[in-house]
Amino acid sequence: MDVVHSAADMRARVCAWRRAGARIGFVPTMGNLHAGHLSLVELARKRADTVVASVFVNPAQFGPNEDFASYPRTLDADRAGLAAHGCDALFAPGVDEMYPFGVAEGVRVDVPKISEVLEGELRPGHFAGVATVVTKLFNLVQPDVAVFGQKDYQQLLVVRRMTMDLRLPIDIIAAPTRRESNGLAMSSRNQYLSSEERERAGVIYRALCAMREQWNAGRPIAAIESDARAVLEAAGSIPDYATIRRADDLSAPYPSDRCGAIALIAIRMGRARLIDNLLLDP
Ligand code: PAF
Repeated sequence: MDVVHSAADMRARVCAWRRAGARIGFVPTMGNLHAGHLSLVELARKRADTVVASVFVNPAQFGPNEDFASYPRTLDADRAGLAAHGCDALFAPGVDEMYPFGVAEGVRVDVPKISEVLEGELRPGHFAGVATVVTKLFNLVQPDVAVFGQKDYQQLLVVRRMTMDLRLPIDIIAAPTRRESNGLAMSSRNQYLSSEERERAGVIYRALCAMREQWNAGRPIAAIESDARAVLEAAGSIPDYATIRRADDLSAPYPSDRCGAIALIAIRMGRARLIDNLLLDP
């Protein structure tokens, strides 16, 4: 597997692959890869001839009090995992390579509305940081297909909207969430949990499943949401939200809506902030 650090080198390789008629698949990550990330690579492999993964801890998507400095950086292990899963190239640029004019003074890509609710409301500027870096990465890697995990559902919608609005000829594929045996969605931030907290954090998935059951039974949304918050609190977490939204734009469903909905949860537990979701339709 090739390891590429500079934008110029990445472009040269993409040029050669394109000349050879290869279809390029892309998996953007911030590294510290787990089985969930590697399943995205496997999915990209099925849809493309050449697979590129990026590892870049993007400063622009972290708030001032968030974990940019402490975010786990494990490039050697990431390289080994990607190579073992059939990745052809790892793009691991430095911050100067991605933000030649600095993060604060660089161009920004903003996706209005969908970026402003839920995670966007709690983490101002987060999705502009994501949309900006993903646009830059797409521009450098020029993929035909890019794979994103469904766990970060709002991010997936932001990237889809950005890709459509900028008229980028890229298929955005959603990969199913990989879970631990207690239902906890795999995430690099699970490392911030103690083993006892990791066990307790299984409550997120249980609460999502209960929300789906109640939704299917026709219970009013406000009651479903307040039950979920109570369950999350009883397990010692602090819920930021436990909500049911329309799956296409995350707006509040009309009381009569019975399809096209999603349950989303964000909690804080110990040092970790965790998010997860479940589509409510079969
Ligand atoms: O999901 C992530 O790991 C990041 O938000 C992404 C898409 C790689 C952009 O930095």
